[in-house]
Amino acid sequence: MDSHMKNRHHAELVVMGNQRRGTLGDRLYGQFIELTGRCVNGGIFDPGSPRARPDGVRADVLEALKEQRPGFVRYPGGCATAYFKWQDLVGPVAERPRARLFRGHGGQAQSTAFGIPEAWSLCRELGAELYLCVNANTQSPEDAANLVEYLNSTQPTPYADLRRTHGREEPYGVKLFGLGNEIYGDWQPGQKTAAQYADWCAEAIRQMKAVDPSIRISVNGLGRPDPEWDRTVMFRLVGLADMLSMHNYFGRPCFEDLMAASRVCEKHFRSAEQILDEAMDIPLGTHSRAHRELGGLPAVQRRPGLAFDEWNLWYRSRHGAPRDVEEVYHYADALALASLMHVILRHADSVDLANVSLAVNTLAPIMTDGERMVRQTTWYAHKLIRDTHDRGRVLESLADAPVFKAKHERFFCGIVDVEKAKDETLPTLEHFDDIPALDALASVSADGRTLRLSLVQKLPDRPLDVALDLHGLAPAGDTMTVRRLARDGDLWVENTLDQPNRVRIETTTEPLTTRFTLPPASLTVLEMPV
Ligand code: AHR
Repeated sequence: MDSHMKNRHHAELVVMGNQRRGTLGDRLYGQFIELTGRCVNGGIFDPGSPRARPDGVRADVLEALKEQRPGFVRYPGGCATAYFKWQDLVGPVAERPRARLFRGHGGQAQSTAFGIPEAWSLCRELGAELYLCVNANTQSPEDAANLVEYLNSTQPTPYADLRRTHGREEPYGVKLFGLGNEIYGDWQPGQKTAAQYADWCAEAIRQMKAVDPSIRISVNGLGRPDPEWDRTVMFRLVGLADMLSMHNYFGRPCFEDLMAASRVCEKHFRSAEQILDEAMDIPLGTHSRAHRELGGLPAVQRRPGLAFDEWNLWYRSRHGAPRDVEEVYHYADALALASLMHVILRHADSVDLANVSLAVNTLAPIMTDGERMVRQTTWYAHKLIRDTHDRGRVLESLADAPVFKAKHERFFCGIVDVEKAKDETLPTLEHFDDIPALDALASVSADGRTLRLSLVQKLPDRPLDVALDLHGLAPAGDTMTVRRLARDGDLWVENTLDQPNRVRIETTTEPLTTRFTLPPASLTVLEMPV
């Protein structure tokens, strides 16, 4: 079949019911609240708002977060972590330092009133775990272990006692920790070399796990632009660290290019997985450096996983108070976000956790002003994918579809200068000839009785007829549920505080069929009994 045929408008999608890939779980759908911009302060926590409850949490924002059913929430950063000692964020609010200056991101003072206990309570309400980012930038391994003692110890020890004097006898039982944030970068205090960082982590992990062996710890990876960083870190920490973290932001102000974000994300995953594979060679006994440099072979119970603990679209907005990095997302961004989620889910067997960055106002699907709140376009795409591919297993699938040309930043676009983005000769761009028009993810529910398909149709100018070929699965009913990302407007339509519903989810029940037509530039989800 000629996939390059111009104007071709049909695709075949083969789903292999017997080839099951990763297991789906709540930790693939995390959220992130950071003490930056208006994310926490002035976002989820806004005591001055008429929408705030007595504890300062915005009831409307909480509701919108709840609807996303996050498996965990990362806190307090991000880069923000480097500006707070954990001791600033516990105990009676009146006894905490009033605020700390976030010296990056436009330099804003961030109140400490929404601290660790408040983040923990929020997680309880959301039914989520707390994933604490530890300050590895400017605090010590000893501090990290003291934090675990404060949170989780039942012993009569100084930090557990400090928690008791703060009015809490029961341990918090926090199980997820990350050590530092993007510590390879100079955009926050405490930059370290990979070797310095690995030494810091080795010490911290030993001490932290001595206090509570049941915790799981991620360490900062970098990924594709510098696999040597990851290699150095994992070489030293295999057997100690549970997860290698990675961050990436995507997007370009052109529809086809935006649709290529998932390809770059896929490459990032492959690079990180390669490092994990290499790390697993170390304990095998054939790794000569391990004997020499580690003084023996580490004991490894389990292959480390990936913590994709910052990912999103970020290509327009810049840092600067007070509207720090507040990205307005369009319909097209929502499709790109769904496609990025597909990549994460396809790699579910190596991803231990993943969270979109962030949850409120800063690079976020939820935007507020003092009184109002809007669910941005990406909120709906995230919800659609999250609700569709709930527990169960990802299935192998193969799409034969038309392809198109596109380009994308090789890594971390972050802030793209819109003028520069027009220059197609930039060396930071990667050119692709073969971005498939159909990006499909198939999964089967935990009870094996529902096939779920999410379909991103990436052709902006024509519909796509799809023939679905099911192997090892037979439809077992007459109807299927169809949910779509609906829009009033063009590809660049957005939801605003004044017009919050231009992009939304629409649900219908339709006769079950394996031949259907996907509208141009669309996100469609099908659920059928099998
Ligand atoms: O605010 C988003 C920032 O982006 C995070 O603080 C940081 O980790 C990343 O560079």
